[in-house]
Amino acid sequence: MKLGRAALGLLLLAPLAVRAVEPISLGLALAGVLTGYISYPRLYCLFAECCSPKRSLSREALQKDLDSKLFGQHLAKKVILNAVFGFISNPKPKKPLTLSLHGWTGTGKNFVSKIIAENIYKGGLNSDYVHLFVATLHFPHISNITLYKDQLQSWIRGNVSACARSIFIFDEMDKMHSGLIDAIKPYLDYYDNLDGVSYQKAIFIFLSNAGAERITDVALDFWRSGKQREEIELKDMEHALSVSAFNNKNSGFWHSSLIDRNLIDYFVPFLPLEYKHLKMCIRVEMQSRGYKVDEDIVSRVAEEMTFFPKEERVFSDKGCKTVFTKLDYYYDD
Ligand SMILES: Nc1ncnc2c1ncn2[C@@H]1O[C@H](COP(=O)(O)OP(=O)(O)OP(=O)(O)O)[C@@H](O)[C@H]1O
Ligand SMILES: [Mg+2]
Repeated sequence: MKLGRAALGLLLLAPLAVRAVEPISLGLALAGVLTGYISYPRLYCLFAECCSPKRSLSREALQKDLDSKLFGQHLAKKVILNAVFGFISNPKPKKPLTLSLHGWTGTGKNFVSKIIAENIYKGGLNSDYVHLFVATLHFPHISNITLYKDQLQSWIRGNVSACARSIFIFDEMDKMHSGLIDAIKPYLDYYDNLDGVSYQKAIFIFLSNAGAERITDVALDFWRSGKQREEIELKDMEHALSVSAFNNKNSGFWHSSLIDRNLIDYFVPFLPLEYKHLKMCIRVEMQSRGYKVDEDIVSRVAEEMTFFPKEERVFSDKGCKTVFTKLDYYYDD
């Protein structure tokens, strides 16, 4: 950082020095500084975005982001932190990292994907090295499957050739045609390279609602038996998740051999959110809009949401989704 600033400082001060120094020497000196700046990748990458496979992820920064921004997801936080940090720190991974995020609507699956992307690339989801696919948006027509397959494969191949540490996020995985999942399968496997391209440093994140009911059942059992939500362990979820995943006949994802062949490294459960988590989401939104947190409005917005099961009203139907639009009503001036 210091060197980068010094180089920039030299460039900015250059006009003042012109009169004192002979023009040709000054030109050469400037060219030298510029060449050094551009050819020294770590410096260059401070100012422009790079694929920069050597850039290390800060565990502390990722942890801080997860702790301060993601509410009510102690399991997801722990798995994601360890999985992503462990993977990025490994100079020679044997296969790409594959995370499958599951859970009820509005519980933070896209949100956490964004946090991961931002911690690896400055541009986050807008980075040239991060690619988001939404099944219903990008692959809507079953009749075009062959075309989609070709496009998807060449997109992945092209992007990983350009940047080994590319991130691919597949949203609505449960609505994705099994043929398309089969098309990406080879890239997730333990190959050193495929047609000269190595996919071992790429990250694939799959998002779906598959298994949400079972995750919710476990969370509800804990709640009913008076246990803390934070007492839920990964092992309480893993079985439920994989069984429900296999049994879900409607989703293409589970028909394909992605799971049979153990190509998913981590199944990450997202718990349904409670009233107190909605309030946390509302507070954050108020602050980000520049308003002072008004606890009265926070409670009123949270109470407008619908909760299930009907009698106990424990979990929000829509997670933190739609709380923001409800907030508009109170600040519509
Ligand atoms: N656990 C959470 N902690 C903090 N904010 C959250 C959480 N869950 C959701 N939010 C907020 O709600 C918004 C919507 O959530 P998000 O899009 O991540 O849900 P999702 O799990 O992807 O839902 P869906 O299954 O419907 O796609 C987020 O952008 C974020 O602002
Ligand atoms: Mg989502």
